[in-house]
Amino acid sequence: MRKIETIGILTSGGDAPGMNAAIRAITRAAIANGFRVKGIYRGYDGLIQNEIVEFSTENVSNIIQRGGTILKTARSKEFETVEGRQKAYENMTAAGIDALVVIGGNGSLSGARIFAQEFDVPCIGLPGTIDNDLNGTDLTIGYDTTLNTIMECVDKIRDTATSHERIFFVEVMGRDAGFLAQNSAIAAGAEAAIIPEDSTGADQLEHFVSRGIRKSKNSSIVIVSESPKCGAMYYADRLKKEHPEFDVRVSILGHLQRGGSPSAGDRILASRLGAGAINALMEGQRNVMIGIRNDEIVYVPFTSAVKSNKVVKHELVDVLSTLSI
Ligand code: F6P
Repeated sequence: MRKIETIGILTSGGDAPGMNAAIRAITRAAIANGFRVKGIYRGYDGLIQNEIVEFSTENVSNIIQRGGTILKTARSKEFETVEGRQKAYENMTAAGIDALVVIGGNGSLSGARIFAQEFDVPCIGLPGTIDNDLNGTDLTIGYDTTLNTIMECVDKIRDTATSHERIFFVEVMGRDAGFLAQNSAIAAGAEAAIIPEDSTGADQLEHFVSRGIRKSKNSSIVIVSESPKCGAMYYADRLKKEHPEFDVRVSILGHLQRGGSPSAGDRILASRLGAGAINALMEGQRNVMIGIRNDEIVYVPFTSAVKSNKVVKHELVDVLSTLSI
């Protein structure tokens, strides 16, 4: 196996607060252990376009508190093709990069898995997504900050919902995963959450109405996971038709959920996972995501990490339902 001297870092997919803290941690842990570091801009697209820059510890000064990613990010279509990955491999080799650390979500780590297999490149993943939908890790970088952002928004919406005695459908991110919706609903004291993982097959709107929320409260907040067909607008329109007596409004939080300074939790998580990535490479680990389980750093094979079957615990559904009477 080729000796690792230079490590490339890239961020890919949707940005997440804490990605900069991760870039800082990987860079500094790598340099502290005698490696050279190269920053790759614009995710896999940047690798294909050869946007590669040597990093020193100064490149990552004063970024731990900043949202977004200083390396920029992209969802690369070209990297999905064999030709794109071939080009990426050639540029990586020409830049003297021996191993790659990829910070991103499901799609990004799936890309790393294929790339590692095709070209026998040591790749390490860091779970960087607000969605918290990667398997084998309790938390992903960005999730905690986004939860707090949503909670603060919903607190504000509640003021106006209460004053006007309205039902608000608040749409949050997480198109295939309800972690943000379920837990922000609990944190903000919402009356219900409508999530993609509901496995009961029950009509979630009907369930909400049948619990007679309006009888005991003068306003309600329902958090809805975004969805192309069944987002907040869909449920609001249905409720207006089925119950014209209710005064219904919609608030779609959108991309503000991805911005902002990372929480202490995300900074610490990103720092631990970043340092963990370098330890993993030094231990000869390949093609694993660095995760955290029960407050311990764990190595999760890419194949398990990207399986889309991480579930929202039923206990959380019960807690929300019990506390929102
Ligand atoms: O995966 C992160 C995420 O923020 C999802 O929650 C959301 O569905 C998606 O990205 C939005 O992507 P884009 O920024 O490309 O619109």
